[in-house]
Order: sequence, then C-alpha cells, then structure tokens
Amino acid sequence: MDQKDALIAGLNQDLAGEYAAVIQYTYYATTVTGLNYQILKPFFEAEIPDELGHAAYLSEKISHLGGEPTTMPAPVEQVGDARAMLEAALKAESDTLENYQIRRSQAQDLKMIELVVKLEDMISDEQNHLEKLSRILHDPVFS
Ligand SMILES: [Fe+2]
Ligand SMILES: [Fe+2]
Repeated sequence: MDQKDALIAGLNQDLAGEYAAVIQYTYYATTVTGLNYQILKPFFEAEIPDELGHAAYLSEKISHLGGEPTTMPAPVEQVGDARAMLEAALKAESDTLENYQIRRSQAQDLKMIELVVKLEDMISDEQNHLEKLSRILHDPVFS
C-alpha cells in the first residue's frame, strides 16, 4: 500500500469513528436519566454538530482523494448510567485525538497542507470535547 492509500484507509477509519460519535452522543442524549438528565442531555446534544461536521469533511476529502468514503459507523457500546456514558465518551475522544495526530503526520509527509490544517482544527475540537468531559467527570457525584 502506498502512502496515499494508507492515508485514505486511515481517513476512512476516522470517518467511521465520527459517524460513531454522532450515534454515541445521540444515543446518550436520548437515553440519559436521573439527576444528571437536565445537564447531560444538552451537553451531549451540543457535541453532535461538531462530529457531524468532521464526518462530512472527511467523507468529502476521501472522495476527492479518489477513495470510497465508508457509510459504516464504528461500533457504539450501549451503556446505561451517566458515569459509564461519560467514561466511554472520554475514551472515544482520546482515541480519536491520537488517530488525528497520526493522520496529521501522514498528511504532512504527503505535503497536503489543507488537510494538515483541517486536522489541526479537528484535533483542537476533540481536545476541547475531552477537556469538557474530564471536567464533568471530576464532579464528586461521579467519584
Ligand atoms: Fe469529531
Ligand atoms: Fe469529539
């Protein structure tokens, strides 16, 4: 597999992950219950547009590079309580962040500057999601 094909394959994994993030946050926003409902429902809902924007960008980029964008999301675990939701989201965001750092260096090697800059934007978005999740998880209610 050449460098460009490896990049396209990686971006397709990222796309599956972004579709999964849309499903994950939608599932959480619509199933969270208990005392956390009023705070966590809008919090989860607010993440969805960012992830959808990331998915749309990746799908267009893969197509532009001559690849076939996936329509299959990565699997999403169904978890019941708020703490498990926040922990699963934290894990997903941190995996995504690592993947984008790999993708950024692949894009850099290929001198794809627009993609590098956009990946940096997405890294910044995911880092922001991660920080918000870890701040919420610091609440004594979750310890
Ligand atoms: Fe994302
Ligand atoms: Fe995210």
